[in-house]
Amino acid sequence: MSDKLNRRKFLGTVGAAVAIDAAANPVYASRRSKPDKIRIIGIACSPRKGKTTAASLQVCLEAAAQLDTRIEVELIELAEMKIDGALAAGLPLAPGQKDDFGKLIPKLSDPKVRGIIIGTPVYFGNMTSLCKAFLDRCIAFRKSNFALSNKVAGVLAVGGARNGGQELTIQSVQAALLCQEMIIVGDARPGARIGATIWNDGKGEVTRDEFGMATARNLGRRVAEVALQLMTIVK
Ligand SMILES: Cc1cc2nc3c(=O)[nH]c(=O)nc-3n(C[C@H](O)[C@H](O)[C@H](O)COP(=O)(O)O)c2cc1C
Repeated sequence: MSDKLNRRKFLGTVGAAVAIDAAANPVYASRRSKPDKIRIIGIACSPRKGKTTAASLQVCLEAAAQLDTRIEVELIELAEMKIDGALAAGLPLAPGQKDDFGKLIPKLSDPKVRGIIIGTPVYFGNMTSLCKAFLDRCIAFRKSNFALSNKVAGVLAVGGARNGGQELTIQSVQAALLCQEMIIVGDARPGARIGATIWNDGKGEVTRDEFGMATARNLGRRVAEVALQLMTIVK
């Protein structure tokens, strides 16, 4: 009898402790303020606007949007922006220097943004320098209370060869995103691998790459489904 009482008392104490933790933890606190809609943003890191990386991300984002009416999508092309990676080290802007990274800060840290899909061409077996500059500048989010924390992240890579380094490139980008406390996902079943691996057939065309297009659609779907599942519990 006294054992039962003690057990009940113990569970009550633990329950109260969990409740206090939950109230203090934004991951749980958000249950009160979950949005009706969530946004998934694709970021094209090719220096060439509107080319194969952007086209592949469009496929990915369309698949994400098709999963659920609560999902809004948006494509951002870094080709239209000036992003100086060196500024990540705390250097000041040079006189007359233009830099657009600041425009991305409110856009990406918006709590409505629950998923971010990074797309990069493969350049010599890795991401483009523009992609690296962007990821280095994302140090700003770490410094701002990890504003990208718990957002779902997926990665897409487009190469001029079927096996031109897409997987290595994806893993490189994922390593930087892990440093933001993002939740990394790969492409969904049936492939269920590390992300979208796309082949530009040399004519600037990716839609004929059926395998790659399937990975793009499955990545969009996976980012969307995990973002929706987290919507109920994450700030
Ligand atoms: C400097 C440079 C290096 C490249 N290196 C590779 C490579 O290592 N592997 C590969 O498959 N494709 C490579 N490519 C081809 C691009 O990844 C491919 O053309 C891609 O589709 C370009 O993306 P975009 O059309 O969005 O600009 C390279 C292209 C350039 C310009």
